[in-house]
Amino acid sequence: MDFGWLDITVAALVLTALIGAIWTRGRNWLDPEFWKRYAIVGSVIMFVFLWILTFDTLKKTHIGSDRVPSPTVINYKITYEFDPSKGYYMPKIHKDQKELLFGKEYSEEEAMKLLVKGKLVIQSRACMNCHTLLGNGAYYAPDLTKAWLDPKWEKVMMPATQSKTKEEAMVKFLMHPDKYATWTRRMPNLGLSEDEAKAVVAYLKWMSAINTNGFPDHFGESKLVKF
Ligand code: HEC
Repeated sequence: MDFGWLDITVAALVLTALIGAIWTRGRNWLDPEFWKRYAIVGSVIMFVFLWILTFDTLKKTHIGSDRVPSPTVINYKITYEFDPSKGYYMPKIHKDQKELLFGKEYSEEEAMKLLVKGKLVIQSRACMNCHTLLGNGAYYAPDLTKAWLDPKWEKVMMPATQSKTKEEAMVKFLMHPDKYATWTRRMPNLGLSEDEAKAVVAYLKWMSAINTNGFPDHFGESKLVKF
């Protein structure tokens, strides 16, 4: 069963009211014991709910879950499609359509190694000092959660860098962001090697496939950049 935040909040409040009413039966509401008991019931119930929700979240945010795909997702085509029932865009993983990254099919182990390297490169250069990843970081530059799905790579960067593939264009941009600026704010050259840039691209492709409940909102509808 899938519960929303509203169901859980209502259930917690109803349970608190019900158990509190039973435990304080016969007591006047001006009696301090009445409020003490309600405070205990409320705290215990909220604690139990938060405990359950924490473990539920851990399960959902684990790599290989329904929301966070396994590393081999980098071997497949990923698109971003509007889901009318949810009212937001969702990444769609085309399991029947391979889209190899740098022309190579990665095994689970190889893909994981590449993603870990990509993550370490991102940490070593402190990309989050300017960017956000999954909403964490600074607001100087665009959020990178769905950067792989940005139409800019095909529409602007592939012709600009004379690349045959999206990943090649991304690598060229990451190695020379100062040369291929598309915005009023510039990204400095952070001295990424080709291998480092490739690992970052793999990491961003994997990250774009995470179901983030439509975050970031209005992705790809920038008012500053029109294609
Ligand atoms: C000093 C701030 C700064 C740092 C640090 C920085 N960036 Fe950027 N980045 C920017 C700015 C500004 C842009 C927009 C540049 C443009 O469009 O010309 C950008 C654009 C990008 C884009 C294109 C996003 C899109 O969808 O258009 C990617 C991908 C990217 N950066 C990745 C990285 C990675 C990976 C790192 C760390 C290795 C990093 N950036 C570090 C400022 C920064």
